[in-house]
Amino acid sequence: MKILAIETSCDETSASVLEEKKGKIRVLSNIVSSQIKIHAKFGGVVPNLASREHVKNIVPVLESALRESKINLRDIDLIAVTKGPGLIPALLIGVSAAKALAYATKKPLLGIHHIEGHIYANFVGESQKSKVKSQKREKIEFPVLCLVVSGGHTQLVLMKDHLKYKIIGETQDDAVGEAFDKVARILGLGYPGGPKVSQEAEKFKTRKLQPANYKLVLPRPMLNSKDFNFSFSGLKTAVLYETKKHPGRLKNKAYVSELCHEFQESVIDVLVSKTIRAGKKYKVKTIMLSGGVSANSELRLRMGEAVQEGLSGVSYQIPELAYCGDNAAMIATAALYRYGKLKDTKKLENNWKKLEAVSSLKLS
Ligand code: KG4
Ligand code: ZN
Repeated sequence: MKILAIETSCDETSASVLEEKKGKIRVLSNIVSSQIKIHAKFGGVVPNLASREHVKNIVPVLESALRESKINLRDIDLIAVTKGPGLIPALLIGVSAAKALAYATKKPLLGIHHIEGHIYANFVGESQKSKVKSQKREKIEFPVLCLVVSGGHTQLVLMKDHLKYKIIGETQDDAVGEAFDKVARILGLGYPGGPKVSQEAEKFKTRKLQPANYKLVLPRPMLNSKDFNFSFSGLKTAVLYETKKHPGRLKNKAYVSELCHEFQESVIDVLVSKTIRAGKKYKVKTIMLSGGVSANSELRLRMGEAVQEGLSGVSYQIPELAYCGDNAAMIATAALYRYGKLKDTKKLENNWKKLEAVSSLKLS
């Protein structure tokens, strides 16, 4: 089976061709055109600008994905697209392109939930281009507990089986990625903030900027709450107050990297502690990470160590770096599993008439 997938929910225009043969999944192409430079000037994603860029990029990105995969559009079996959640002006471009393709080629069309895509980044097969054999992909055993950490979402998702989701906890305010981006803005580090804050934190950890050490301590929000919810907006405000107390220190690179380190430690302490506790309570067999923030090397490392120490016999699964941020290969993979579970695939044949982009959408 060959799937052509499109993702345009935020600021990346992406298309991918994926092939499944005898149970083996191979990404034949995964083109991601990022708009970071355009939005960086504004310190965040401007929806209408994103939409305009998607319009410019969508056809070239689709052409590249098909060319690189060496698959003719005729030979595609299914078209998949992110239907939401996301920015409507951005989503509409991918959804319209997918509808037009499905109409013109008379292929079935399947809309995919963006977060389902992020979760299924963990099930993406090996990439043909990079010949990356990824980390050893043993069969993923259910129940799975997936920590979804992106720019718009922070959720602990329990999966008893494929495509079966129960959200057992989520952020009450800012998503983790959003908090990283806001802290980066406070500290003047630019957009997107996650990678910048994490680079600064690394400098402090590896003692590149010693001897400055302000012994900064930030709160660990909701660390001891009995539920599995999170809150990151107060933590971001704590960073803001800290910088307001000592405005002069912002010029000091060592101070900035220590503050980034303490912020990141606080986030990771909370994420790891709640994930491990939930993993024990629900007796899961696999812990997974997904979403843009799952590219954070310290989070990947610390969660892995905590699983090993605290959840004996439980395996740990993280997506390849290429599939952490928004990309269409993860959408194609989710579509493969969804399609496989459909009782009546005929319904998808005229789906171009019905499919709609939705800004907020429950994972179900
Ligand atoms: O999943 P994603 O690409 O888009 C959404 O669905 O939101 O996530 C983007 C978020 C941004 O907030 C970005 O700052 C964050 O992921 N991010 C990181 C890292 N790389 C990206 N956060 C922390 N550490 C990173 N290395
Ligand atoms: Zn995303």
